[in-house]
Amino acid sequence: METSCRICSGPVKASIDLGDQPRGNAFPKSGELTDEFFYRLLVGMCDSCAMVQLMADIPQEVRYHDQYPYRASNSSVHSAHFTGVARRLMATELTGHDPFIVEIGCNDGVMLATIADSGVRHLGVEPSQEVAALARSKGIRILSRFFDEETASDIRAEHGPADAIFGANVIAHISHLDSVLKGVRTLLGPDGVFVFEEPYLGAVVEQTAFDLLYDEHSFVFSVSSIHAAARLFGLELVDAEPLAIHGGSMRYTLAQRGARPPAPAVADLLATERAQRLDQHATLEEFARRAERVRDDLTTLLRELRADGKRVAGYGAPAKITTVTNYCGIGTDLIPYVCDSTPAKQDRVVAGSHIPVVPPSVFLEDRPDYAVLFAWNHAEEIMAKESGFTGRWIVYVPEVRII
Ligand code: TYD
Ligand code: ZN
Repeated sequence: METSCRICSGPVKASIDLGDQPRGNAFPKSGELTDEFFYRLLVGMCDSCAMVQLMADIPQEVRYHDQYPYRASNSSVHSAHFTGVARRLMATELTGHDPFIVEIGCNDGVMLATIADSGVRHLGVEPSQEVAALARSKGIRILSRFFDEETASDIRAEHGPADAIFGANVIAHISHLDSVLKGVRTLLGPDGVFVFEEPYLGAVVEQTAFDLLYDEHSFVFSVSSIHAAARLFGLELVDAEPLAIHGGSMRYTLAQRGARPPAPAVADLLATERAQRLDQHATLEEFARRAERVRDDLTTLLRELRADGKRVAGYGAPAKITTVTNYCGIGTDLIPYVCDSTPAKQDRVVAGSHIPVVPPSVFLEDRPDYAVLFAWNHAEEIMAKESGFTGRWIVYVPEVRII
Protein backbone atom coordinates (compact mmCIF):
# COMPACT_ATOMS: atom_id res chain seq x y z
CA MET A 1 0.00 0.00 0.00
CA GLU A 2 1.20 3.52 -0.82
CA THR A 3 -0.16 6.97 0.12
CA SER A 4 1.20 10.49 -0.12
CA CYS A 5 2.94 12.25 2.77
CA ARG A 6 0.78 14.57 4.89
CA ILE A 7 3.68 17.02 5.12
CA CYS A 8 5.41 17.10 1.72
CA SER A 9 3.18 14.92 -0.54
CA GLY A 10 6.08 12.52 -1.18
CA PRO A 11 5.44 8.77 -1.51
CA VAL A 12 4.82 6.79 1.71
CA LYS A 13 5.09 3.00 1.64
CA ALA A 14 3.72 0.84 4.52
CA SER A 15 6.51 -0.99 6.39
CA ILE A 16 4.67 -1.99 9.59
CA ASP A 17 1.33 -3.83 9.76
CA LEU A 18 -0.22 -4.25 13.23
CA GLY A 19 -3.48 -5.68 11.89
CA ASP A 20 -7.06 -4.53 12.37
CA GLN A 21 -7.27 -2.21 15.36
CA PRO A 22 -9.96 -0.19 17.14
CA ARG A 23 -9.28 3.32 18.46
CA GLY A 24 -6.72 3.22 21.26
CA ASN A 25 -8.70 5.35 23.71
CA ALA A 26 -12.19 4.11 22.76
CA PHE A 27 -12.76 2.20 26.05
CA PRO A 28 -16.38 1.24 25.24
CA LYS A 29 -18.89 0.14 27.87
CA SER A 30 -19.45 -3.61 27.84
CA GLY A 31 -23.03 -3.02 26.66
CA GLU A 32 -21.86 -1.04 23.60
CA LEU A 33 -19.81 -3.58 21.70
CA THR A 34 -22.02 -4.30 18.72
CA ASP A 35 -20.65 -1.76 16.28
CA GLU A 36 -16.97 -1.26 17.12
CA PHE A 37 -14.89 0.77 14.70
CA PHE A 38 -11.81 -0.99 13.25
CA TYR A 39 -9.15 0.18 10.79
CA ARG A 40 -5.94 -1.37 9.47
CA LEU A 41 -2.97 -0.13 11.51
CA LEU A 42 -0.31 0.37 8.84
CA VAL A 43 2.68 2.66 9.40
CA GLY A 44 5.14 3.89 6.81
CA MET A 45 7.87 6.42 6.13
CA CYS A 46 7.97 9.20 3.52
CA ASP A 47 10.67 8.73 0.89
CA SER A 48 11.27 12.48 0.69
CA CYS A 49 11.10 13.87 4.24
CA ALA A 50 11.45 10.64 6.31
CA MET A 51 8.30 11.45 8.31
CA VAL A 52 6.93 8.24 9.90
CA GLN A 53 3.13 8.26 9.69
CA LEU A 54 -0.07 6.25 9.89
CA MET A 55 -1.42 5.24 6.50
CA ALA A 56 -5.06 5.60 7.64
CA ASP A 57 -6.65 8.96 8.44
CA ILE A 58 -9.18 8.72 11.27
CA PRO A 59 -11.26 11.90 11.61
CA GLN A 60 -10.12 13.90 14.65
CA GLU A 61 -13.71 14.48 15.81
CA VAL A 62 -13.96 10.70 16.33
CA ARG A 63 -10.80 10.67 18.46
CA TYR A 64 -10.99 13.79 20.64
CA HIS A 65 -14.62 13.70 21.59
CA ASP A 66 -16.18 15.30 24.65
CA GLN A 67 -15.50 12.27 26.85
CA TYR A 68 -11.86 11.80 25.80
CA PRO A 69 -10.60 9.80 28.82
CA TYR A 70 -6.89 10.71 28.99
CA ARG A 71 -5.91 12.87 32.01
CA ALA A 72 -2.44 14.34 31.82
CA SER A 73 -2.37 15.06 35.58
CA ASN A 74 -2.93 11.41 36.47
CA SER A 75 0.74 10.67 37.09
CA SER A 76 2.63 12.55 39.80
CA VAL A 77 5.86 12.19 37.79
CA HIS A 78 4.19 13.80 34.77
CA SER A 79 2.67 16.59 36.89
CA ALA A 80 6.10 17.43 38.28
CA HIS A 81 7.58 17.35 34.76
CA PHE A 82 5.05 19.87 33.43
CA THR A 83 5.42 22.18 36.42
CA GLY A 84 9.12 22.20 35.54
CA VAL A 85 8.34 22.97 31.87
CA ALA A 86 6.15 25.93 32.91
CA ARG A 87 8.83 27.35 35.21
CA ARG A 88 11.48 27.00 32.52
CA LEU A 89 9.34 28.69 29.85
CA MET A 90 8.62 31.55 32.25
CA ALA A 91 12.33 31.94 33.05
CA THR A 92 13.58 31.76 29.44
CA GLU A 93 10.87 32.81 26.97
CA LEU A 94 8.22 34.75 28.91
CA THR A 95 10.46 37.45 30.35
CA GLY A 96 9.52 40.47 28.21
CA HIS A 97 6.71 43.00 28.66
CA ASP A 98 3.27 41.32 29.00
CA PRO A 99 4.31 37.97 27.47
CA PHE A 100 1.76 35.64 25.89
CA ILE A 101 1.82 31.83 25.67
CA VAL A 102 -0.52 29.47 23.82
CA GLU A 103 -0.74 25.76 24.57
CA ILE A 104 -2.09 23.43 21.90
CA GLY A 105 -4.09 20.59 23.53
CA CYS A 106 -3.66 21.70 27.13
CA ASN A 107 -5.71 18.73 28.43
CA ASP A 108 -6.59 19.25 32.12
CA GLY A 109 -4.17 22.18 32.44
CA VAL A 110 -1.28 20.23 33.94
CA MET A 111 1.26 22.71 32.46
CA LEU A 112 -0.78 25.95 32.17
CA ALA A 113 -1.93 25.90 35.81
CA THR A 114 1.52 27.08 36.91
CA ILE A 115 1.51 29.81 34.22
CA ALA A 116 -2.01 30.96 35.18
CA ASP A 117 -1.06 31.06 38.88
CA SER A 118 1.79 33.41 38.00
CA GLY A 119 -0.59 35.78 36.22
CA VAL A 120 1.07 35.36 32.79
CA ARG A 121 -1.21 35.94 29.77
CA HIS A 122 -2.06 32.54 28.28
CA LEU A 123 -4.56 30.58 26.22
CA GLY A 124 -5.16 26.83 26.23
CA VAL A 125 -6.57 25.45 22.98
CA GLU A 126 -8.46 22.28 23.89
CA PRO A 127 -11.33 20.75 21.89
CA SER A 128 -12.21 17.90 24.33
CA GLN A 129 -14.91 19.38 26.59
CA GLU A 130 -14.47 17.32 29.77
CA VAL A 131 -10.74 17.94 30.10
CA ALA A 132 -11.23 21.59 29.07
CA ALA A 133 -13.69 22.01 31.95
CA LEU A 134 -11.09 20.64 34.36
CA ALA A 135 -8.57 23.18 33.04
CA ARG A 136 -11.10 26.04 33.39
CA SER A 137 -11.71 25.04 37.01
CA LYS A 138 -7.99 25.75 37.62
CA GLY A 139 -8.43 29.34 36.40
CA ILE A 140 -7.02 28.69 32.90
CA ARG A 141 -8.33 30.55 29.83
CA ILE A 142 -9.55 28.03 27.27
CA LEU A 143 -10.49 28.19 23.61
CA SER A 144 -12.47 25.05 22.79
CA ARG A 145 -11.32 24.44 19.22
CA PHE A 146 -8.93 22.35 17.17
CA PHE A 147 -5.70 24.23 16.47
CA ASP A 148 -5.13 24.93 12.79
CA GLU A 149 -4.33 27.83 10.46
CA GLU A 150 -7.70 29.50 10.97
CA THR A 151 -7.68 29.15 14.78
CA ALA A 152 -4.14 30.58 14.82
CA SER A 153 -5.05 33.70 12.87
CA ASP A 154 -8.15 34.24 15.03
CA ILE A 155 -5.99 34.03 18.16
CA ARG A 156 -3.47 36.46 16.70
CA ALA A 157 -6.23 38.91 15.76
CA GLU A 158 -7.63 38.84 19.29
CA HIS A 159 -4.53 38.52 21.48
CA GLY A 160 -1.56 39.50 19.31
CA PRO A 161 1.52 37.38 18.53
CA ALA A 162 2.65 34.60 20.88
CA ASP A 163 6.05 34.59 22.57
CA ALA A 164 5.77 30.85 23.03
CA ILE A 165 3.54 28.09 21.71
CA PHE A 166 3.73 24.80 23.56
CA GLY A 167 2.38 21.30 22.98
CA ALA A 168 3.07 18.00 24.72
CA ASN A 169 1.99 14.62 23.40
CA VAL A 170 -0.40 16.32 21.04
CA ILE A 171 1.40 17.65 17.95
CA ALA A 172 2.17 14.13 16.66
CA HIS A 173 -1.54 13.37 17.11
CA ILE A 174 -2.70 16.00 14.62
CA SER A 175 -3.05 14.62 11.10
CA HIS A 176 -3.34 18.13 9.61
CA LEU A 177 0.18 18.93 10.83
CA ASP A 178 0.75 21.06 7.71
CA SER A 179 -2.05 23.40 8.81
CA VAL A 180 -0.68 23.45 12.39
CA LEU A 181 2.76 24.53 11.13
CA LYS A 182 1.21 27.24 8.95
CA GLY A 183 -0.75 28.37 12.03
CA VAL A 184 2.41 28.45 14.14
CA ARG A 185 4.15 30.60 11.53
CA THR A 186 1.19 33.03 11.64
CA LEU A 187 0.79 33.18 15.41
CA LEU A 188 4.41 33.20 16.55
CA GLY A 189 6.06 36.59 17.15
CA PRO A 190 9.33 37.34 15.28
CA ASP A 191 11.45 35.98 18.16
CA GLY A 192 8.91 33.50 19.51
CA VAL A 193 9.43 29.76 19.92
CA PHE A 194 7.26 26.73 19.28
CA VAL A 195 8.27 24.07 21.81
CA PHE A 196 6.77 20.59 21.66
CA GLU A 197 7.60 17.20 23.11
CA GLU A 198 6.49 13.93 21.61
CA PRO A 199 7.42 10.22 21.69
CA TYR A 200 10.70 9.86 19.78
CA LEU A 201 11.15 7.53 16.81
CA GLY A 202 14.67 6.62 17.99
CA ALA A 203 13.30 5.44 21.36
CA VAL A 204 10.34 3.63 19.76
CA VAL A 205 12.68 1.74 17.41
CA GLU A 206 15.33 1.04 20.04
CA GLN A 207 12.78 -0.42 22.47
CA THR A 208 10.55 -2.09 19.85
CA ALA A 209 7.72 -0.08 21.44
CA PHE A 210 5.17 -1.08 18.80
CA ASP A 211 2.38 -0.31 21.29
CA LEU A 212 3.08 3.40 20.86
CA LEU A 213 1.56 3.02 17.40
CA TYR A 214 -2.20 3.64 17.51
CA ASP A 215 -4.79 5.84 15.83
CA GLU A 216 -3.96 8.98 17.82
CA HIS A 217 -0.30 8.89 16.91
CA SER A 218 -0.64 10.14 13.35
CA PHE A 219 3.15 10.61 13.28
CA VAL A 220 6.25 9.42 15.09
CA PHE A 221 8.71 12.30 14.90
CA SER A 222 12.47 12.24 14.51
CA VAL A 223 14.91 15.14 14.45
CA SER A 224 15.39 14.64 10.69
CA SER A 225 11.69 14.67 9.85
CA ILE A 226 10.96 17.72 12.05
CA HIS A 227 13.99 19.48 10.60
CA ALA A 228 12.56 18.90 7.10
CA ALA A 229 8.96 19.76 8.05
CA ALA A 230 9.97 23.05 9.71
CA ARG A 231 11.79 24.18 6.55
CA LEU A 232 8.80 23.46 4.35
CA PHE A 233 6.70 25.90 6.37
CA GLY A 234 9.13 28.80 6.83
CA LEU A 235 10.24 27.70 10.29
CA GLU A 236 13.52 26.30 11.59
CA LEU A 237 14.47 23.63 14.10
CA VAL A 238 16.74 25.48 16.55
CA ASP A 239 17.02 22.96 19.39
CA ALA A 240 16.25 19.34 20.25
CA GLU A 241 16.52 17.71 23.67
CA PRO A 242 15.94 14.02 24.51
CA LEU A 243 13.54 13.38 27.44
CA ALA A 244 12.87 10.21 29.45
CA ILE A 245 9.11 10.84 29.68
CA HIS A 246 6.59 8.52 27.92
CA GLY A 247 9.22 5.87 27.36
CA GLY A 248 11.57 8.22 25.46
CA SER A 249 10.54 11.55 23.96
CA MET A 250 12.21 14.49 22.22
CA ARG A 251 11.57 18.17 22.92
CA TYR A 252 11.81 20.22 19.71
CA THR A 253 12.16 24.00 19.56
CA LEU A 254 11.17 25.75 16.33
CA ALA A 255 11.58 29.45 15.56
CA GLN A 256 10.85 31.66 12.57
CA ARG A 257 13.50 30.88 9.95
CA GLY A 258 16.70 32.83 10.59
CA ALA A 259 15.49 34.25 13.91
CA ARG A 260 17.75 32.17 16.18
CA PRO A 261 20.99 30.29 15.61
CA PRO A 262 20.43 26.51 15.92
CA ALA A 263 21.97 24.88 19.00
CA PRO A 264 24.77 22.34 18.33
CA ALA A 265 22.40 19.55 19.47
CA VAL A 266 20.51 19.81 16.17
CA ALA A 267 23.46 18.90 13.95
CA ASP A 268 24.65 16.29 16.48
CA LEU A 269 21.28 14.54 16.58
CA LEU A 270 20.90 14.67 12.79
CA ALA A 271 24.27 12.91 12.48
CA THR A 272 23.32 10.32 15.12
CA GLU A 273 20.06 9.56 13.32
CA ARG A 274 21.87 9.08 10.00
CA ALA A 275 24.26 6.66 11.69
CA GLN A 276 21.29 4.76 13.19
CA ARG A 277 19.60 4.68 9.76
CA LEU A 278 16.46 6.16 11.31
CA ASP A 279 15.51 7.53 7.88
CA GLN A 280 15.56 4.12 6.16
CA HIS A 281 12.60 1.85 5.36
CA ALA A 282 14.75 -1.17 6.30
CA THR A 283 14.86 0.09 9.92
CA LEU A 284 11.06 0.01 10.13
CA GLU A 285 10.95 -3.41 8.47
CA GLU A 286 13.38 -4.83 11.06
CA PHE A 287 11.28 -3.19 13.78
CA ALA A 288 8.20 -5.02 12.45
CA ARG A 289 10.03 -8.36 12.65
CA ARG A 290 11.09 -7.69 16.24
CA ALA A 291 7.47 -6.77 17.11
CA GLU A 292 6.36 -10.18 15.77
CA ARG A 293 8.87 -11.86 18.05
CA VAL A 294 7.59 -9.94 21.10
CA ARG A 295 4.03 -10.93 20.14
CA ASP A 296 4.99 -14.62 19.91
CA ASP A 297 6.97 -14.57 23.17
CA LEU A 298 4.22 -12.77 25.10
CA THR A 299 1.37 -15.02 23.93
CA THR A 300 3.47 -18.16 24.51
CA LEU A 301 4.27 -17.04 28.07
CA LEU A 302 0.63 -16.16 28.87
CA ARG A 303 -0.60 -19.53 27.50
CA GLU A 304 1.99 -21.41 29.57
CA LEU A 305 0.99 -19.53 32.72
CA ARG A 306 -2.66 -20.31 32.06
CA ALA A 307 -1.82 -24.01 31.54
CA ASP A 308 0.01 -23.95 34.91
CA GLY A 309 -3.10 -22.55 36.60
CA LYS A 310 -1.47 -19.19 37.36
CA ARG A 311 -3.59 -16.06 37.71
CA VAL A 312 -2.50 -13.14 35.54
CA ALA A 313 -3.85 -9.57 35.65
CA GLY A 314 -3.03 -6.45 33.64
CA TYR A 315 -1.74 -3.24 35.25
CA GLY A 316 -2.53 0.10 33.62
CA ALA A 317 -4.86 0.69 30.69
CA PRO A 318 -3.05 3.26 28.56
CA ALA A 319 -4.06 3.57 24.90
CA LYS A 320 -1.08 1.28 24.26
CA ILE A 321 -2.95 -1.71 25.75
CA THR A 322 -5.37 -1.58 22.83
CA THR A 323 -2.57 -2.05 20.28
CA VAL A 324 -0.81 -4.85 22.20
CA THR A 325 -3.87 -6.91 23.06
CA ASN A 326 -5.41 -6.64 19.59
CA TYR A 327 -2.12 -7.25 17.75
CA CYS A 328 -1.29 -10.26 19.96
CA GLY A 329 -4.85 -11.61 20.14
CA ILE A 330 -4.88 -11.40 23.96
CA GLY A 331 -8.40 -11.51 25.44
CA THR A 332 -10.01 -12.25 28.79
CA ASP A 333 -9.00 -15.93 28.48
CA LEU A 334 -5.38 -14.86 29.09
CA ILE A 335 -5.88 -11.62 31.08
CA PRO A 336 -9.28 -11.49 32.85
CA TYR A 337 -9.01 -7.82 33.90
CA VAL A 338 -6.70 -4.81 33.93
CA CYS A 339 -6.62 -2.24 36.72
CA ASP A 340 -6.28 1.49 36.09
CA SER A 341 -6.57 4.51 38.38
CA THR A 342 -8.49 6.65 35.83
CA PRO A 343 -12.20 6.77 36.86
CA ALA A 344 -13.21 7.60 33.24
CA LYS A 345 -11.81 4.23 32.08
CA GLN A 346 -13.22 2.07 34.88
CA ASP A 347 -16.39 0.05 34.26
CA ARG A 348 -15.39 0.00 30.60
CA VAL A 349 -13.44 -2.50 28.51
CA VAL A 350 -10.37 -2.30 26.28
CA ALA A 351 -11.66 -1.85 22.71
CA GLY A 352 -11.43 -4.95 20.54
CA SER A 353 -9.95 -7.29 23.17
CA HIS A 354 -12.77 -6.52 25.66
CA ILE A 355 -10.62 -6.88 28.78
CA PRO A 356 -12.55 -5.15 31.63
CA VAL A 357 -10.91 -2.12 33.29
CA VAL A 358 -11.29 -2.12 37.09
CA PRO A 359 -9.98 0.14 39.89
CA PRO A 360 -6.59 -0.71 41.49
CA SER A 361 -8.44 -1.84 44.66
CA VAL A 362 -9.53 -4.99 42.76
CA PHE A 363 -5.89 -5.77 42.02
CA LEU A 364 -5.03 -5.35 45.72
CA GLU A 365 -7.76 -7.74 46.85
CA ASP A 366 -7.27 -10.29 44.08
CA ARG A 367 -3.52 -10.78 44.59
CA PRO A 368 -2.76 -12.33 41.18
CA ASP A 369 0.41 -14.38 40.59
CA TYR A 370 1.54 -12.18 37.68
CA ALA A 371 0.78 -8.70 36.40
CA VAL A 372 1.48 -7.54 32.85
CA LEU A 373 2.69 -3.93 33.07
CA PHE A 374 0.92 -2.21 30.17
CA ALA A 375 1.72 1.26 31.57
CA TRP A 376 5.43 0.42 31.26
CA ASN A 377 6.36 4.09 30.86
CA HIS A 378 5.24 4.57 34.48
CA ALA A 379 7.09 1.47 35.77
CA GLU A 380 8.96 3.20 38.58
CA GLU A 381 5.93 5.03 39.94
CA ILE A 382 3.68 1.95 39.75
CA MET A 383 6.19 -0.49 41.24
CA ALA A 384 6.81 1.92 44.13
CA LYS A 385 3.06 2.30 44.68
CA GLU A 386 2.54 -1.49 44.54
CA SER A 387 5.60 -2.41 46.58
CA GLY A 388 3.37 -4.81 48.56
CA PHE A 389 2.60 -6.86 45.41
CA THR A 390 3.88 -10.38 46.08
CA GLY A 391 3.42 -11.70 42.53
CA ARG A 392 5.77 -10.99 39.63
CA TRP A 393 5.72 -8.34 36.94
CA ILE A 394 5.71 -9.18 33.24
CA VAL A 395 7.07 -6.57 30.86
CA TYR A 396 7.25 -6.78 27.07
CA VAL A 397 9.33 -3.68 26.26
CA PRO A 398 12.03 -3.93 24.95
CA GLU A 399 11.46 -7.70 25.16
CA VAL A 400 9.34 -10.13 27.17
CA ARG A 401 10.74 -10.55 30.68
CA ILE A 402 9.52 -11.60 34.12
CA ILE A 403 10.83 -9.36 36.93
P1 TYD B 1 -0.11 6.84 29.69
O1 TYD B 1 0.96 5.88 29.36
O2 TYD B 1 0.29 8.07 30.42
O3 TYD B 1 -0.91 7.27 28.42
P2 TYD B 1 -1.27 6.72 26.97
O4 TYD B 1 -2.72 6.37 27.07
O5 TYD B 1 -1.01 7.91 26.13
O6 TYD B 1 -0.40 5.55 26.61
O7 TYD B 1 -1.25 6.10 30.53
C1 TYD B 1 -0.93 5.46 31.72
C2 TYD B 1 -2.15 4.78 32.27
O8 TYD B 1 -1.77 4.11 33.46
C3 TYD B 1 -3.27 5.74 32.62
O9 TYD B 1 -4.51 5.21 32.16
C4 TYD B 1 -3.26 5.78 34.15
C5 TYD B 1 -2.63 4.47 34.53
N1 TYD B 1 -1.88 4.54 35.76
C6 TYD B 1 -2.32 3.79 36.86
O10 TYD B 1 -3.34 3.08 36.78
N2 TYD B 1 -1.61 3.86 38.04
C7 TYD B 1 -0.50 4.65 38.16
O11 TYD B 1 0.14 4.68 39.23
C8 TYD B 1 -0.05 5.40 37.01
C9 TYD B 1 1.18 6.26 37.10
C10 TYD B 1 -0.76 5.31 35.84
ZN1 ZN C 1 7.18 13.73 3.35
